[in-house]
Amino acid sequence: MLEQFIKIKNSALAEIQSVKNSAELEALENKLLGRKNGELTNLLKGLKDLSSEEKKSVGQAANDVKQTIESAMAEKKSELARAEWVKSSEKESMDVTQPALPSKSRGHFHPITLVQNKLEDLFASMGFMVLDGPELESDYYNFTAVNIPENHPARDTQDTFYIKKHPNWLMRTQTSSVQVRAMQKYGAPLRAIVPGRCFRNESTDARHEHTLYQIEGVVIDSGINFGNMKAVLEQVVKNLYGAETKLRLRPKYYPFVEPGVNGEITCVLCQGKGCRVCKQSGWLEIFGAGLIHPNVIKEGGIDAKKYQGFAFGFGLDRLVMLKYGIDEIRVLKSGEMKFLEQF
Ligand code: DAH
Repeated sequence: MLEQFIKIKNSALAEIQSVKNSAELEALENKLLGRKNGELTNLLKGLKDLSSEEKKSVGQAANDVKQTIESAMAEKKSELARAEWVKSSEKESMDVTQPALPSKSRGHFHPITLVQNKLEDLFASMGFMVLDGPELESDYYNFTAVNIPENHPARDTQDTFYIKKHPNWLMRTQTSSVQVRAMQKYGAPLRAIVPGRCFRNESTDARHEHTLYQIEGVVIDSGINFGNMKAVLEQVVKNLYGAETKLRLRPKYYPFVEPGVNGEITCVLCQGKGCRVCKQSGWLEIFGAGLIHPNVIKEGGIDAKKYQGFAFGFGLDRLVMLKYGIDEIRVLKSGEMKFLEQF
């Protein structure tokens, strides 16, 4: 009987070695150790018929055989599991060159960005640079440099947020703050627009926000006149609202221009017939503009006798609202997905 155990052990160890996958290993385990008809199981069952003398010696050896086979099996099992895992993870590995699958929730531009991009393209095609400026600005560039000295009443129309420890710093109220910065940096001739965020300390309603976007424009050259300004601005409104849109300019005071105007277009909602949005006038105000005041040109370090210029400022939020028929300015920065998903 002892020889039988030794024989089983040797053949079992050889068979375990040659097993190629876990299914084969399982079958072998059944064949040897299966409860009902396992070869080793059957042999072990025979132990009970031995004399107690034989039981002692053979029993011990039988136990060793069983343990050796079981631990060889366990070792093979983990070896196979490891190999199979490596193989399957190779199959699953990523192909980094595969194009991304279309996703349902892809981001897109905000309507303000859409209109800003459109205007940047248009102005770039007319030879304008697109400039940037700081939102936290000095009192000097926001007011003084553009002909609004300290104690000038025009300051009252644009209250903003001041920085406690720095009384000369404020959140800019207008992109006009970049006019003199641009002149000082680039000199004349100059053609630039400045899109950007501005801030006002005022209570909000459907048409007013504490944070708003503007697009400023500055053109400086020799021989610039009012007609040049009107031609450029006409291009802009026709590009934005259609070729049939009419533009009218009416006198309005802005400290940094002389003469100053406000620009109105035929109401895009009623086509000039008169409605609630245009307050029955048929016209909508969308920008301020004018010929740059010589004081501002001088402040920019440019010879005001040699050079003239015009400037304009659009409220970008307003352009967006009119373009898409939005009657509440506060939704623009609300982060409302229901609103944003429409663009
Ligand atoms: N900065 C003005 C505002 O915030 C808008 C403006 C008016 C800009 C006339 C200009 C301009 O450049 O010429 O109300």
